[in-house]
Amino acid sequence: MELIVVVGFLKRRNNPAMTIPAELVQRLATAKSVTVLTGAGVSAESGVPTFRDAQTGLWAKYSPEELATPRAFRRNPRLVWEWYEWRRNLVAGAKPNPAHLALVEMQNLFLRFHLITQNVDGLHQRAGSRHVIELHGNITRTICFEEGTIVSTWKDTGDVPPKCPACGGLLRPDVVWFEEPMPEEEMQEAMTASTHCDFFFSVGTSTVVYPAAALPSEALRSGATVVEINPQPTPLTPQAHYALAGAAGVVLPELVMALKASRLA
Ligand code: APR
Repeated sequence: MELIVVVGFLKRRNNPAMTIPAELVQRLATAKSVTVLTGAGVSAESGVPTFRDAQTGLWAKYSPEELATPRAFRRNPRLVWEWYEWRRNLVAGAKPNPAHLALVEMQNLFLRFHLITQNVDGLHQRAGSRHVIELHGNITRTICFEEGTIVSTWKDTGDVPPKCPACGGLLRPDVVWFEEPMPEEEMQEAMTASTHCDFFFSVGTSTVVYPAAALPSEALRSGATVVEINPQPTPLTPQAHYALAGAAGVVLPELVMALKASRLA
């Protein structure tokens, strides 16, 4: 066992692509339809903290129920707005990392490619990914709490939260809060993409938060080859056809490099 680990390490130093099983690369090279589900782990290398990790300093004393539910917003809209404004600033200062960039490249390598994300930071789009299916919304967008319409500009009257220019309702971030339903259209699209693909990748997600966590199982049930990329084991790990234990920002670029090399060969 020890010998295998040492050999693996030496191979990795000389040729980083060796960490990706050759059989996986060969099979992936002929895939027509690929679906990828991403979670907070993909943004970790950009320095974007997860919801819970962001609850530090001033915010540590609040529970998720006090910051991310419609009830919390009704009770204390200023607190909730300021919490999201703080997180929006963190996201604005973050940059897409090699995992995001590798997924942009992957999109161009397959006939059909779907990217589903649970992340609300918009980093996939900033990296250049097209048509990202956002299951939990996007922190950089703002909607009217009353009407649900997207609001891009408003007058700065000093109100916190600001008011909707159309109806005077309070503005809120366009994210899915606890106790709120998932966006129907996105969920439907994600389900179709997961049940109609040759390969399904679950990247940087703990696969414990439902309904997104059901998507890899749906892909498995539909006969897709399921690949997990995560440095830590998750409930999906024992069922995945391939579990690549590593950081997304390392494994995904290696995978893309190996895939391109195999297509040229
Ligand atoms: N590369 C890949 N995976 C990583 C990396 C990395 N560099 N760093 C951490 N991870 C993995 C962790 O091991 C963990 O399994 O990312 C996963 C992050 O898990 P969660 O924090 O539970 O994030 P996620 O699965 O996206 O959670 C889903 O829950 O908190 C809510 O709404 C929030 O969208 C979020 C949802």
